[in-house]
Amino acid sequence: MQIDLDFADRHVVVFGGTTGINFGIAQAFARQGARVTVVSRKRENVEEACAALGQFGGQVNGVCADVRDFDAVGRAMAASVAAFGDIDVLVSGAAGNFLCEAKDMSSNGFRAVVDIDLVGTFHVLRQAFAHMSKPGGVVLNITAPQSSIPMRFQAHACAAKAGVDQLTRVLALEWGPAGLRVNAISPGPIAQTEGFKRLIANGAGNSGDSNANVPLGRLGSVDDIANLALFLASPYASYISGAVVSCDGGGALDSVKPTLEAAGARATQTNA
Ligand code: HXC
Ligand code: NAP
Repeated sequence: MQIDLDFADRHVVVFGGTTGINFGIAQAFARQGARVTVVSRKRENVEEACAALGQFGGQVNGVCADVRDFDAVGRAMAASVAAFGDIDVLVSGAAGNFLCEAKDMSSNGFRAVVDIDLVGTFHVLRQAFAHMSKPGGVVLNITAPQSSIPMRFQAHACAAKAGVDQLTRVLALEWGPAGLRVNAISPGPIAQTEGFKRLIANGAGNSGDSNANVPLGRLGSVDDIANLALFLASPYASYISGAVVSCDGGGALDSVKPTLEAAGARATQTNA
């Protein structure tokens, strides 16, 4: 189920918007009448996404760019603005991930994820600023619970997403006076996505029964995240900026549990 908010003729640009959660966000805005630009590396992903988004009858544009390349991001931004005008909503969601223990991770492997998730987000926001509708423009960064909850085999993603959260807050401070709101969405485990498959299929210190860790008892859906994006970009959220908003069924709260269990075990050992 999707909420109904009007984005007719708004220009929404989604980096990493050709698959998964970010594509779901692009689709939600297209459904609400927005002109949508999606950007990612692979031409086949861009073409498929544009064809699917075109079904909603609105205007759609697709551009290939790697967020690690500052100039390529600038060219993508310029092309999107030339087609559809200044940017009303910017989503920065490109990300990469794999499971690897830090002691086995190469410097290049660590750097690849930090470059995509964190440096890439800086590139996207830095290149967008001049083209954002001011006042009224909205930035949504896509972060993850690992930004504050440490997770084994995720040193790169944890470090990168922690940086994304803090970048969100700093730019909310700096860009607020220009009338821009900057927020981040932190999805929990989202069913049928690449990110979820990569963590669960390989274990991630997680049994695979990940809804057992979610108080609401289910995995999230792409629509859950898309609905939050619509809300945060809408006038209903006009006083929300600098926030990292979880959409995880309460899952992040459960990270406290193992800590308490460990503390209980330590107390038992001490008392024995
Ligand atoms: C160890 C690995 C590795 C692996 C890559 N590397 N995969 N190391 N284990 N499984 C190392 C490589 O050996 C190399 O280091 C370095 O990482 C760069 O790898 P490349 O393949 O050359 O990089 P590139 O082609 O740029 O691809 C980037 C990528 C790739 C991140 C490695 O997986 C990718 O493009 N991913 C995009 C799709 C994706 O990951 N989606 C999920 C994102 S969201 P050396 O030293 O050998 O040169 C997400 C969040 C979930 O996961 C959060 C849930 C709570
Ligand atoms: P996904 O389908 O793999 O989406 C990643 C997107 O980013 C793809 O469109 C990919 O397209 C693009 N991309 C990757 N590297 C890029 C680069 N260097 N430059 C430009 N584009 C690039 O993954 P997802 O699971 O839906 O995740 C989407 C977002 O949600 C990510 O920010 C992720 O960290 C976050 N998240 C996901 C979950 C989850 O459960 N899935 C949980 C928490 C947070 P190309 O390959 O064509 O470039």
